[in-house]
Amino acid sequence: MARLSNRERWDSVPEAFVAPGMATQPTGEYCDMVLKAQQNPEAFWLQQAQRLAWQTFPQAASRSDFTGDVLVQWYPGGVLNASESCLDRHLHTQPNKAALIWEGQEDGQREVLSYKDLHARVCRLANTMRRLGVKKGECVAIHLPMVAEGIIAMLACARIGAIHVVLFGGFSPEGLAERLSDSGAVLVLTADVARRGDKRIPSKETMDTALLRCAEKSRVQHVLVVPVTGASVPMHVGRDLNYAQEVAKEQPDCPAEPMQAQDPLFLLYTSGSTGRPKGLVHGTGGYMVWASFTHAVTFDHKPTDVFWCTADISWITGHTYVVYGPLANGGTIMVYEGLPSWPQPGRWWDVIDRNGVTVFYTSPTVVRAAMREDSAVLQSRSLESLRILGTVGEPISPEAWHWFHDEVGKGRCAVVDTWWQTETGGVMITAAANSVTPRAGAASLPLPGVEATLLDTQGTVVHGAGEGLLCMARSWPGQAQSIWQDHARFKQTYFTTCPGYYFTGDGARREADGYYWITGRVDDVVNVSGQRIGTAEIEDAIATDHEVVESAAVGIPHDLKGQGLVVFVVPRAQGVFHPDAVNRAVAAGVGRYAVPEKIYVVRDLPKTRSGKIVRRLLRKIAAHDLDGLGDLSTLADPDIVQELIALVGAQG
Ligand code: WT7
Repeated sequence: MARLSNRERWDSVPEAFVAPGMATQPTGEYCDMVLKAQQNPEAFWLQQAQRLAWQTFPQAASRSDFTGDVLVQWYPGGVLNASESCLDRHLHTQPNKAALIWEGQEDGQREVLSYKDLHARVCRLANTMRRLGVKKGECVAIHLPMVAEGIIAMLACARIGAIHVVLFGGFSPEGLAERLSDSGAVLVLTADVARRGDKRIPSKETMDTALLRCAEKSRVQHVLVVPVTGASVPMHVGRDLNYAQEVAKEQPDCPAEPMQAQDPLFLLYTSGSTGRPKGLVHGTGGYMVWASFTHAVTFDHKPTDVFWCTADISWITGHTYVVYGPLANGGTIMVYEGLPSWPQPGRWWDVIDRNGVTVFYTSPTVVRAAMREDSAVLQSRSLESLRILGTVGEPISPEAWHWFHDEVGKGRCAVVDTWWQTETGGVMITAAANSVTPRAGAASLPLPGVEATLLDTQGTVVHGAGEGLLCMARSWPGQAQSIWQDHARFKQTYFTTCPGYYFTGDGARREADGYYWITGRVDDVVNVSGQRIGTAEIEDAIATDHEVVESAAVGIPHDLKGQGLVVFVVPRAQGVFHPDAVNRAVAAGVGRYAVPEKIYVVRDLPKTRSGKIVRRLLRKIAAHDLDGLGDLSTLADPDIVQELIALVGAQG
């Protein structure tokens, strides 16, 4: 491209991308990217592929197609290994740079791993896995708290071409068993016991129960137990092995498996609008380019950064911004095991000060909780190392945004809200730090190459200012390729609502200048503290209680958690049913983290004459939002609505 002034460059950006915030502050590079990605996506994404270390550079960027059987394919012909891009090439240029700073929740627990150290520990585990018979293309389940071994395990899987499946520590045995059998994992890594403040979580014991539950369907051969607290736990002879002892037997070097760009790097289970969790499949080449690109652009990455993404590694945020993005970019990652306010409020601010954290990426829930604390908590900390603050998981209110900006960032840090999903692999819509002017409460602008589109319920494209279903008109490198062993469900879930488009499940509003505001899920998914919970999963768990005829779970606005979960249950016999049974069923079937805020025991649910539960009404009733209930005469039993309103009103 000819040399243009910023102004000229800016004038040539197509109108759809122009936002006044940017126009007043255009940075040359970002504008160039927007333009190039729009004019020639193939060339743009091939150029971005140079961010990684390839064994064979790809011949093309994308062969994706949202019609027919749906194909998401990035970088055909490319051969690489994700762990080489994250480790080996930095080993040559910066072996002694800190790759990972880990702090445990107990005072004084701290460990700094250089790129050289991290590489060696990944290799020892990779060799251990190979010795235990794990093959390329097989799944390995990782069920660990925020200890360095979790990250090491992900990279070790990548090194030998095994597909990692990170499982949340809060899942019940049932939830674990379902995912272990669906993935066909052959090896499990778990902790003896995990710490959560004063609580101790019996990870190994929970895993043992899960493995018993799925004994017939599971392919698990071995369980590697990471000694986190050193507690003694029962070990099954022949199956269970001590992680520390096993890795000590191995060499600190291990050849990396050559992987095709589209070979799966990992599966990650997420909730949808049916009961069965979906294992989203992320490929190697496209995902890694997206992790590196979005980390660099969204957070304006600098080599001197200490990057702290507070997400657990069992969420996509942990995959992309604790591990793959920052390490691919040769950064230093901060990993902290503990809670924000344990043993006392302000613990996370201390982690920032002690380690010189420069980028702090967290959730609106954490921000809201911090806002409620005594202002002395924050004032007694320096926080002067910070330069960028970010949030993800749910919309951040303008009030919380400003507090984050003014009080934590002291008015001198860029604040980025980032909209994205498990399915998108990385950030999609954001006010990229130091490139796009943010607007408090707005997700802001699609990143270069992201073709966000709004469609109305008839499937017509909304132009200019307006509101609609948030869709993507074209694939991007980070897009999930499929649902594990169920491509038909992948197509059905994401590509039938708006044919020819990827449908996100979210609604959004766009301003005339292109800024997006996310209005929330339009499907049956509730977002509690940024964690996605399918209402159908909750209802399926409750249905295992034979005293329950049926139930309906809905989300309501919640001050701290963003959304709270409310359940309406119809018991077999009125008067004798105790709501605690519902809590027990949810804790056992899904996990304690999904236990509802409030349970209403009711006579019936509002239904259409064809028997479909009208969740819209339940949502409004549960939220005490009684305006615009609409025409109730089409209900099978219109009287039930008044009955529910009275009940909810009485019970608060
Ligand atoms: C859903 C995706 C992306 C990692 C965390 C959650 C909601 C996410 C935002 C945001 C408004 C947001 C959406 C989305 N969401 N980020 N910045 N503003 N809503 O990943 O579990 O796949 O959930 O979270 O509803 O669809 P996930």
